[in-house]
Amino acid sequence: LKEIYRKGMLEGEAPDLPVSFEDIREAAWENMSEEGRAYVHGGSGGEETFERNKDFSKWRIVPRMLRGVAERDLSVEFLGEEYDWPLLVTPLGVQTLLHDDAEHATARAASDLNVPFILSSLSSTPMEEVAEELGDTPKWFQFYWSSNHDIAKSFLDRAEAAGYDAIVLTVDAPTLGWRERLVARGYYPFMAGEGVANYFSDPEFRAALDETPEEDPSAAVDYFLDIFGDSSLQWDDLEFVFENTDLPVIIKGVLHPEDARLAIEHGAAAVDVSTHGGRQVDGSISAIEALPAIVEEVDGEVPVFFDSGVRRAKDAFKALALGADSVFLGRPWAYGLAMAGERGVRHVLENFLAELDLTMGLAGCASVDEVDRSTLKHETELE
Ligand code: FNR
Repeated sequence: LKEIYRKGMLEGEAPDLPVSFEDIREAAWENMSEEGRAYVHGGSGGEETFERNKDFSKWRIVPRMLRGVAERDLSVEFLGEEYDWPLLVTPLGVQTLLHDDAEHATARAASDLNVPFILSSLSSTPMEEVAEELGDTPKWFQFYWSSNHDIAKSFLDRAEAAGYDAIVLTVDAPTLGWRERLVARGYYPFMAGEGVANYFSDPEFRAALDETPEEDPSAAVDYFLDIFGDSSLQWDDLEFVFENTDLPVIIKGVLHPEDARLAIEHGAAAVDVSTHGGRQVDGSISAIEALPAIVEEVDGEVPVFFDSGVRRAKDAFKALALGADSVFLGRPWAYGLAMAGERGVRHVLENFLAELDLTMGLAGCASVDEVDRSTLKHETELE
């Protein structure tokens, strides 16, 4: 990591790709279709939450000096494993809209840097192929519940058989949000046959069709839309997931402390505080606003993860300082993927980790454990 900023800052060797989030997004934008832009940008409603998610400025880092930060350790431990970094690649569906190499590219870049990878149910590549690409890199499978339980069970079985280490159950999408950019274009990626590879390759999904998805793709898409998600679910229904997998289950999309408590009571191995990137309830509390109360409620019983709005290392630092065990990164690498495929994702992840390492050192933290509440002040504490 030191090599990266040394090159950029001390040797005058500029990278051949843009560095800031804004410049990367601009470069990505040029390579994307209008539908792709609408899908990835895609906050719900008037994008109030999408915008507010990115505001971490009420929390200020208070750096400490002369703390011996020459050797910094970014590793973290949770769910019985040690990880090199407090960072995971968030699940993000339909990556063909970003780049033709889609999840293959993202997985290779993550694997190069040993950044754990969470694969979306809505991936453009079957989960087994992505698992192979990832090799020994930690991999989790994000699970969207199908109302057809044979298919839901089949997804859990396939994830376990393919070597995924955990299930990330997303609970904030009983249905997809009101995404104006998509509504206005009358565009839904799945109708164009994007993001359905896990379903089309699933034996139970195929068994439920009269003709194969290859023979009649539009009937297969119709069936997919029919069984995708289940808005009738309640907490007690989670029993089905725990009964059908031995893997730890992480509940993604929690914003209320009582939901974090319910998740733990129902057997969750961890929770993820998330607004789904501002794509679900417009006007909702932002993820960073929700985090402190959830950390307080969970009180160390299970790990707490965080995503939504993280653009730069300072954002991840603040989430870690407020008690998150690790952070899921989303749009920054997604735009890296659209900008330059595998190389773009690697560039974003590498720069992000280098900046986090530097931020920790400058703030006086030699390890992630030291990134705690004492390193922050809320603006109301400043007077
Ligand atoms: C997502 N997200 C998401 N989450 C999930 O559980 N399953 C999914 O298939 C997807 N798909 C998806 C697609 C796109 C294009 C985006 C931007 C997001 C949500 C994702 O995991 C994460 O919560 C957000 O990306 C966090 O917000 P930021 O930091 O990217 O703004």
